[in-house]
Amino acid sequence: MQIVCSIAAMQRLAKKWRRAGTRIGFVPTMGYLHAGHLSLVKSARKAVGNNGKVVVSIYVNPTQFAPTEDLANYPRDLQRDLKLCREAGVDAVFTPKDAEMYAGRAAANYSTYVVEENLSFPMEGITRPTHFRGVTTVVAKLFNLVLPDVSIFGQKDFQQTAVIKRMVADLNFPLKIIIAPTLRETDGLAMSSRNKYLVGDLRHQATVLWSSIQTAQAIVKKMKSVSAAKLKADLKKFIESEPDARLDYIEFFEPDTLSPVSKVSSGAQMALAVSIGKTRLIDNAQL
Ligand code: PAF
Repeated sequence: MQIVCSIAAMQRLAKKWRRAGTRIGFVPTMGYLHAGHLSLVKSARKAVGNNGKVVVSIYVNPTQFAPTEDLANYPRDLQRDLKLCREAGVDAVFTPKDAEMYAGRAAANYSTYVVEENLSFPMEGITRPTHFRGVTTVVAKLFNLVLPDVSIFGQKDFQQTAVIKRMVADLNFPLKIIIAPTLRETDGLAMSSRNKYLVGDLRHQATVLWSSIQTAQAIVKKMKSVSAAKLKADLKKFIESEPDARLDYIEFFEPDTLSPVSKVSSGAQMALAVSIGKTRLIDNAQL
C-alpha cells in the first residue's frame, strides 16, 4: 500500500493509473476509521474490481468545522488507520496537510470555495451554516487530486450525499457516486468516529436516535399517513426523556429533493440531529 502525502505525488499517481486505463475507486474520510468506512472500501473494490485501484483519503478538513466545533479534538489515529487500510486491501492512502490543501488557510493565499445553494440549506445547514461549503470544497479538490472513476459515500450523512451528488451533476465531474448503507452497532447506534466521545451512560442514551427512527417507522406502518408536526412533537418528547439528550432537528422529507412533507407516509425520509451531552449525532432512514 502506498502512502501519499503530497498533492503532486497524488496527482502523478492518479494520472499514471488513468493513462494505463486503470479504474480508480475513491473513499474520502476524515480518518479514525471504523467498520462503516471499511464497508465503503469494500464497495469501492467491488466497483473497480481486482485490476482497479482503491484510494482512501484521510484528512480532517478544517473548512467544514465552525470555530465552535470539535476540529482540534476530532479523534485521530493515523497508524491504526493505515493498518486497517492495509488489511482491507487499499492500494493508496492519501493524507494531505492543511498547508498544501489550503495554503495554510490565509485568505490571501486561499480564496476559492465550492458552494451548493439549495440542498445545503435545511437541517445541517441551519445549525452548521458553513459546513457544506467546506465539504463540497474539499471533495471537489480531492476529486481533482485522486481523479476517481467512482467515489463512495455513506448513507449515514444523508444530506451530504445529496449535496455531493448535486455538485457532481452540476459541475460535470466525470465520475459516479455510490451511496453505501449505514452500518450500525448491535444496539442500532449508527457507526461514527464521534461515538468515541460517548462515555459511560451517554453511550446507552445515544441509542435514542435509532429508537426514534424505529418508532416513526412503526407509526407510519400502522397509521399509513401522519402529521409531520405531531410526529416531530411526539418524538422530541421521547428523545428528550433521556437526561442528556437535546434535539437539534427532526425532519421528514422527499429523499430526492429534501423538500419537507407535511404528511408522513411510507417512502418519506426521516433525518435527525441530537446532542447527547456535548456530542452531536445524526442519523436517518427511509420510513
Ligand atoms: O463524511 C466525511 O467524513 C467528510 O465530510 C468528507 C466527505 C470526508 C469530507 O471531508
